[in-house]
Amino acid sequence: MSVSLNPAIDLAIIGGSGFYHLNPHRADKETQQTTYLDITTPFTNEPIRLCQEAVNTTNVYFIPRHGVEHTLPPHKINYRANLWALKEAGVQKIIAVNAVGGINPKMNPGSLVIPDQIIDYTWGREHSFFDGLNSLHDHIDFTYPYDAQLRDLLIEEAKEIELPVFGKGCFACTQGPRLETAAEIQKLKRDGCDIVGMTGMPEAALARELNIAYACITLVVNPAAGLSKETITIDKIKKVLSEGLQDVRKLLGACVVKL
Ligand code: HPA
Repeated sequence: MSVSLNPAIDLAIIGGSGFYHLNPHRADKETQQTTYLDITTPFTNEPIRLCQEAVNTTNVYFIPRHGVEHTLPPHKINYRANLWALKEAGVQKIIAVNAVGGINPKMNPGSLVIPDQIIDYTWGREHSFFDGLNSLHDHIDFTYPYDAQLRDLLIEEAKEIELPVFGKGCFACTQGPRLETAAEIQKLKRDGCDIVGMTGMPEAALARELNIAYACITLVVNPAAGLSKETITIDKIKKVLSEGLQDVRKLLGACVVKL
């Protein structure tokens, strides 16, 4: 069912790999509790579809960034369209979820990390709204890429529900879709990165350009390349995802009622 804008909703969740539906029991069969808002943007021919659903009785918007069937690889996601649509819908806060590889030896598969920094190693992505076609200010302050209040809330609520999380970490955002070489991971380690994923940027910067508070929960799904004797396989990643996303959902449930 399609609905019109609900001005009461100002929080959105962006789901990553394995996280295609906000409430898992709706994965097979959509119910009338999911409604949709189709938003036209200057960046796509097709409108961006926002799902509107309740998490613990709080209504939020939800976008699965890879699409519900995981058809969009990290470098093909239209980050600008997604962020624009959320802004148009009145969203002021975003909690994003990302699957990542662990570089820091303490960040094992299954760990949750709330990063406080990011290094952007991506290339060729449409990474800004400031393309010379409008008069918006074009140099955002990005010293601290994640919203401090949202990060504090995620960390505090995790403590409240006794869910272990790492309260800081540097996110290396690589281009993908291939995984990294062992040498690339050693370089990221020397750069001070703790986790590596492919979808952290330009999402975080675009949110800042639109003045939307943004933070993310990352779930470590594999040791990064060359850091374990075992090869990285999608089957192993899927297993960690299905267990770890239960923790992510618990944390989201605890946080949304406070926002
Ligand atoms: N590297 C990059 N992106 C990822 C990884 C990784 O090891 N695991 C999950 N997303």
